[in-house]
Amino acid sequence: MVQVTDVTVYYEKNEKNQKSEPAEPALSGVSFSLGAGGRLALMGANGAGKSTLLLTLIGVLLPATGEITVAGIPVRPSRLRDLRQQAGMVFQNPDDQLFMPTVAEDVGFGLRNYGVAEAEARARVDRTLSRLGIGHLKHRFSHRLSGGEKRLAALAGVLVMEPSFLLLDEPSSFLDPKARRTLTAVLAGLPQAMLLATHDTDTARALCPDTLILKNGRVFACGHTADILTDAALLAEAGL
Ligand SMILES: Nc1ncnc2c1ncn2[C@@H]1O[C@H](COP(=O)(O)OP(=O)(O)OP(=O)(O)O)[C@@H](O)[C@H]1O
Ligand SMILES: [Mg+2]
Repeated sequence: MVQVTDVTVYYEKNEKNQKSEPAEPALSGVSFSLGAGGRLALMGANGAGKSTLLLTLIGVLLPATGEITVAGIPVRPSRLRDLRQQAGMVFQNPDDQLFMPTVAEDVGFGLRNYGVAEAEARARVDRTLSRLGIGHLKHRFSHRLSGGEKRLAALAGVLVMEPSFLLLDEPSSFLDPKARRTLTAVLAGLPQAMLLATHDTDTARALCPDTLILKNGRVFACGHTADILTDAALLAEAGL
């Protein structure tokens, strides 16, 4: 489903690097693969490169070197429309995601954009909202929701499209314990391949058989979640 080979990513000049020194890559030599229906937790200290990797996988950032394919589609600018139909991402900050006035409009936006008939779009929006336990937020203004409500609304907007690959950046942040359990149960019931960036070891354990740890933009460890999350020395060395 997902093949990542030797990917290196640089950001444009940042404050540290206005001069001529070569920039530090945000990701270097990253390789891994994920099978159909596979679920991989992506862990690593703040700044390790998790969000960068997710943004690169959906073509928001372009790698300087390396190859990525998602569902057989090479990730490159000319294929972004095809890619977006296969891959759905929930951003780390829900304010980056919600942009229509109300929750119902926001969640239905992608469906309408892809020409799904109005009655079907409405039904799919209702089903997705109630599945996530937020049917009551349907007519609320998106920008007036709480952090956790925004997170769930953003997730609804992605799930409603039924992408074959889900990229979730800190999906459990801002959520109260009950919403966290709902989220875990919903995600556990989905057939899609998933890459889940998280600091929440309970969520990683509950959902992902495998875990990949990034450190300073490189793959530091990759293996069974049960082994990795019980290896205190490894976690300490990864800055976790
Ligand atoms: N827009 C940007 N411009 C320049 N550098 C950036 C930008 N975004 C992130 N970086 C840098 O790239 C590196 C990786 O950042 P990234 O956001 O991928 O980390 P992360 O693992 O998602 O961290 P967190 O756990 O805090 O979300 C960091 O050194 C960060 O400072
Ligand atoms: Mg991040």
